Amino acid sequence: MPYTVSTDPSGSFLTLTSPGSAPLRFHALWLRDNALDPETRAPGNGQRLITIGDIPRDTAISSARAEADHLSVSFAPENKTVSYPYDWLEKNTYDRATPPKAGWLADGVQTWDGSLAPPAFEWDGVRSDAAVKRRWLSAVARFGFAKLTGGPAAEGALLDTAAMFGFVRETNYGRYFEVRTEVNPTNLAFTGLGLQAHTDNPYRDPVPTLQILYCLENSAEGGDSIVVDGFRAAERLREENPDGFDLLAGYPARFEYKGSDGVCLRSRRPMIELAPDGQLAGIRFNNRSSAPFTDIPFARMEAYYAAYRRLGEIIDEPGMGVAFKLEPGESFIVDNTRVLHARTGYSGSGSRWLQGCYADKDGLLSTLAVLEAEA
Ligand code: FE2
Repeated sequence: MPYTVSTDPSGSFLTLTSPGSAPLRFHALWLRDNALDPETRAPGNGQRLITIGDIPRDTAISSARAEADHLSVSFAPENKTVSYPYDWLEKNTYDRATPPKAGWLADGVQTWDGSLAPPAFEWDGVRSDAAVKRRWLSAVARFGFAKLTGGPAAEGALLDTAAMFGFVRETNYGRYFEVRTEVNPTNLAFTGLGLQAHTDNPYRDPVPTLQILYCLENSAEGGDSIVVDGFRAAERLREENPDGFDLLAGYPARFEYKGSDGVCLRSRRPMIELAPDGQLAGIRFNNRSSAPFTDIPFARMEAYYAAYRRLGEIIDEPGMGVAFKLEPGESFIVDNTRVLHARTGYSGSGSRWLQGCYADKDGLLSTLAVLEAEA
């Protein structure tokens, strides 16, 4: 595709044009900082060798030429020339329209309700076939959860699941923990009570970004698992009540857990978390571990509670949740910054025994990115 380039007379930016595409502008300082030459980037590990202070304050584009497959840019006062492949420039463009309203979603994230068929993958396939593993991790990235079926009904198998993409996050609950009825439970999860949809451990900062729940026995009546897309719930709240959305995003809630000896975990974080540019970044929602909210102005507290109540109602709507009953050897991963999980109560004869552990999304996304690059 023929590219043309023009440099602003100031030398402070250039404009790259190609037929059928919007023009892309790049600043001299940005291009110099992101130069791909071996004096700027270490050839082996790709890490930057210069600091911001090494870039002359008066850096300007002295000339720019559109070659067949790359843009060649010369910088003053260093008198340095650097090449930028066109596909690299397009991939890294920042010259785009202002992002849409607060609560926008990252590329590749797709919200859902109860009509979604749970993405499910076979243990053996994930272990033996890189393409299946890539699809499995890609489903977690896109939908925030995925089931894994056909695994061993063996204690600790969830650690093998985590090892397929990353690393367990050990907490005060251990490397992993048992989710079954206990006589003196340190957490209501370890009872037969139903649990409202929630994200785990919002009292931790940083919060564990992934959870794996792995089934070893499930012959009790009830005990179904339900997952709810917190991003869809937040989107709905924003449509219905933008002020309520802004309140839950704009003020920190407080969360706390001190249910076992020697532990007192506290956090001060919003229920709906946005990146500084408004991207929807996370959800924290957990009735059991909410602490008194003390960071909302008196004048806004009732409106805050109305928004909190409405978010809970949306989350509890039957049409929002995807329900399934895990069989022994089945498990699921949730993105704990987005997808809430619940379970129906259980009792009677039979037993329910799950094991749970935490892991982190950066490791999962790293493994996914490597698999995608190899595909
Ligand atoms: Fe939980």
